[in-house]
Amino acid sequence: MGKLDGKTAIVTGAAQGLGEGIARRFAGEGATTIIVDRTDASELAAELPLSSAGKKATAVVADVTDRAMAEMVIAEAVGRHGRLDILVNNAGTYHVRNLIDETVESFRQQFEVNTYAVFAWSRAAARNMRDQGWGRIINTSSQLGKVAREGYGIYSASKAAVILLTQALALELGPYGVTANAICPGTMATQLLSTADGRPGMEYAAELGVDLDTAFRDYVADRIPVGRLGVPGDIGALAAFLASDDGGFITGAALNLTGGEQVFF
Ligand SMILES: NC(=O)c1ccc[n+]([C@@H]2O[C@H](COP(=O)([O-])OP(=O)(O)OC[C@H]3O[C@@H](n4cnc5c(N)ncnc54)[C@H](O)[C@@H]3O)[C@@H](O)[C@H]2O)c1
Repeated sequence: MGKLDGKTAIVTGAAQGLGEGIARRFAGEGATTIIVDRTDASELAAELPLSSAGKKATAVVADVTDRAMAEMVIAEAVGRHGRLDILVNNAGTYHVRNLIDETVESFRQQFEVNTYAVFAWSRAAARNMRDQGWGRIINTSSQLGKVAREGYGIYSASKAAVILLTQALALELGPYGVTANAICPGTMATQLLSTADGRPGMEYAAELGVDLDTAFRDYVADRIPVGRLGVPGDIGALAAFLASDDGGFITGAALNLTGGEQVFF
């Protein structure tokens, strides 16, 4: 028996990193899992176990900023599986740059992926969840959605907006059996962490003369009380709990998943 037996879930940005961790855990807990990413994740989908309903995980190639695509993918999921129970808005992006050096284009791009897409996909999913009287919306925000850090101004603002959108959804949808929560990861070991300005992290670090292994070891020792970076399985476990019946009384929360790096409310 899995925590998510009989459920159908969409996870965006799940071709790799934290989203992959969520998709793997959801499939392992019995959910019929649909991976949405701008890169093709069909190999990952083929690796995932069959759901409790005997269905294969599937991969859809889509840019989350495409609203028409959001509505189409959600309508297709409902058409094919009878219902959509869980939506995880996880796709995200960032540029590291001080605000005074930022461009309007970068502002728009980060807000479109990190914030607008959360609205577009949640709206489409919530209409179905409200009508069926059960649903879970989980949005990946960030610890930087609660605190500013130099170089991450636009990213922080886009992730703070995700928290407030999530809370508003929770208030609107609570009466219909639908919860909405945000997860605020700290420093997680994924590809996103090791890229800056779109350049591969290793290349960028070499350019700066930084030894990444040492840099991360020092960072962990200085800033993360539990003594390690987060991993995709950490968010998979929390998302699966929030998505399950056990998570039914948690809504409107912005849960820290930081190993103690940030301990704010
Ligand atoms: N890694 C961290 O330390 C960290 C910390 C806090 C929050 N987050 C958030 O967690 C989420 C996942 O981050 P990650 O570290 O796994 O990143 P990642 O770069 O490893 O993975 C992000 C995934 O999202 C996909 N994606 C990006 N833009 C997309 C778009 N427009 N349409 C469809 N797919 C798109 C990418 O193809 C990729 O598969 C993001 O929202 C990120 O902001 C990450």
